[in-house]
Amino acid sequence: MSSPRKILVTSALPYANGSIHLGHLLEYIQTDIWVRFQKSRGETCTYVCADDAHGTAIMLKAEQQGISSEELIANVSAEHQQDFAAFLVGFDNYYSTHSPENRELAELIYQRCKEAGHISTRTITQAFDPEKQLFLADRFIKGTCPKCKAEDQYGDNCEACGATYSPSELIDARSAISGAKPVDKESTHFFFKLPDFTEMLRQWTRSGTLQEEIANKLAEWLDVGLQEWDISRDAPYFGFEIPGEPGKYFYVWLDAPIGYMASFKNLCQQDPTLDFDEYWQKGSDTELYHFIGKDIINFHALFWPAMLDCANFRTPTAVNAHGFLTVNGKKMSKSRGTFIKASTYLEHLDPEYLRYYFAAKLNSRVEDLDLNLDDFVLRVNSDLIGKVVNIASRSAGFITKKFDGELAEQCAEPGLMDEFVRAGERIADFYERREFGQAMRLIMSLADQANEYIHQKEPWVLAKQEGREQEVQAICSVGINLFRLLMVYLKPVLPAMTAKAEAFLNDSLDWEACGRVLLGHRINKFKPLMTRVESAQIEAMLDASREALAEASPAAPAVESPLVKEPIAEEITFPDFAKVDLRIARIAKAQHVKGADKLLQLTLDLGGETRNVFAGIKTAYRPEDLEGKLTVMVANLAPRKMKFGMSEGMVLAAGPGGEEIWLLEPHAGAQPGMRVC
Ligand code: MSP
Ligand code: ZN
Repeated sequence: MSSPRKILVTSALPYANGSIHLGHLLEYIQTDIWVRFQKSRGETCTYVCADDAHGTAIMLKAEQQGISSEELIANVSAEHQQDFAAFLVGFDNYYSTHSPENRELAELIYQRCKEAGHISTRTITQAFDPEKQLFLADRFIKGTCPKCKAEDQYGDNCEACGATYSPSELIDARSAISGAKPVDKESTHFFFKLPDFTEMLRQWTRSGTLQEEIANKLAEWLDVGLQEWDISRDAPYFGFEIPGEPGKYFYVWLDAPIGYMASFKNLCQQDPTLDFDEYWQKGSDTELYHFIGKDIINFHALFWPAMLDCANFRTPTAVNAHGFLTVNGKKMSKSRGTFIKASTYLEHLDPEYLRYYFAAKLNSRVEDLDLNLDDFVLRVNSDLIGKVVNIASRSAGFITKKFDGELAEQCAEPGLMDEFVRAGERIADFYERREFGQAMRLIMSLADQANEYIHQKEPWVLAKQEGREQEVQAICSVGINLFRLLMVYLKPVLPAMTAKAEAFLNDSLDWEACGRVLLGHRINKFKPLMTRVESAQIEAMLDASREALAEASPAAPAVESPLVKEPIAEEITFPDFAKVDLRIARIAKAQHVKGADKLLQLTLDLGGETRNVFAGIKTAYRPEDLEGKLTVMVANLAPRKMKFGMSEGMVLAAGPGGEEIWLLEPHAGAQPGMRVC
């Protein structure tokens, strides 16, 4: 047998100023499944992470809470680790970027880059808060959008119209921290000379290290030309002071990825079988993988490999980026209750439901993943309870009651068993390539086959017939063995359920278990492995998420009633009202409108007649989520010529704007064309 691979795996380091939510968990669960798969296969795989503890946001948050930054990051670290453990994310080490190992490594890497001539300095002008005596990053400046005039927008982009701009273009700019008017101020900054690494990066990004879509994007950036990277921040800043440069600190994103190394180094000090240099020296033949979200690709695929190369360390084997999580087709939203914290989920639902659902929908591409809560309930119940658990619960009773827990001495269906074993290599290949969805589909089709086998053999009928005990034992033993293989394949996704199955089967279920069939083996009493999800649990979780938000900001109600801002309009008489012809319409088609920030073009079916309508709902809906839905429209509104074409009516929706727009959706019993009265 070849010797095990040596693999070091990381997930991005979560910021130490907020709670873990389901979006984060997509990443940690994806990584954890991959790591558990490698471990199950017998590879030497080490998974490290840490809290990302530095930066202005953390400093300000601590100040707000009236505690030191150190206290804040200690509290948050404890909370993060509790959440991760509950979701069965099995880090080998969880550390902090605010650690002696990280300081030492950050200084070392900086020194090496400096000695090699890849650090420059120059004076830059920046917005400064004269009251707080603090330089202001773009997101700490607020003002009125220069494009759409929406108030209270951040310094780099408008949430209302999606425009991007520089903070100096904002109308009536204010410091988001003190409210003071920012002034321009000069200061010396340190830069990492990224352009020096253009050739190195051109090669690295094209050597199988990145997903294709990312490599293509980066190739464009490399062609345009790279910029020097600003790696310093002025005091006051919570971070590491740059050696020999009083009052200057490393920018949080400089020492954050170095935190991967620091966490591993800290682990090496506790585990003598791991050697730091073996994993990090240039030319190392160990493997290094970073799992990250699509929003932080430039840090991991440009700055990080360049810095490592510059400081004479190895570069990553691959950076695996995933897309973002949406809930019910939309960005997670506090007012919809879909901004769900890990701890809120745990009060209502089993973590393995989510692990399975994510696995079933994950692939190796950088696509967003939708958690559709109705689909979640269906899939968990039908796949895990209806298919997998069912195989064991149908077979186990007979074996325990009639055969004292003893499985048959011989395998009655070697062909079927063999098919299940052979499928294992395809499943392993899917796991290795992060095609978890395909792995789950193959496993569930095997589960269907196993159920079909038991269904046809009807052991419950034979059990009532004289002299057919042997057959009952043989069939149920096949059922148990098929179930056992499925649990081996599901172990990376469902470690807790597999632990229960291991206790029941009296066997361990790492991948090598595929090579054996349990014959003449004694199993234990079957206990329920998992319970069904109920929709009521989902509702309770959404309610609790809305409440949790209300508690967090008691001054602002969770959903600001638009009525508070907009007084009721002038009174009208019934004949006025009766003039408005409201009809049920089916959205036959929904499309983006080229050049429009807010509009979607809808083709509405009124039951025989169709209308073209432009609706200002783009900020809240994706076209593909609208098609097929029912809504209500004003059917007798005079057509209006708009910039993009003729609009023949209006659809009804409510909400303050942005992502908070709700299209009215009548009960599915309504028919297109029906009059609304
Ligand atoms: N601290 C940085 C990472 C430093 S790594 C050297 C950071 N932290 S984060 O807390 O904002 O995000 C941690 C990870 O979670 C990132 O990879 C990010 O992409 C991911 N996600 C955060 N929200 C997410 C979703 N809604 N959906 C999917 N992943 C998301 O970035
Ligand atoms: Zn705007």
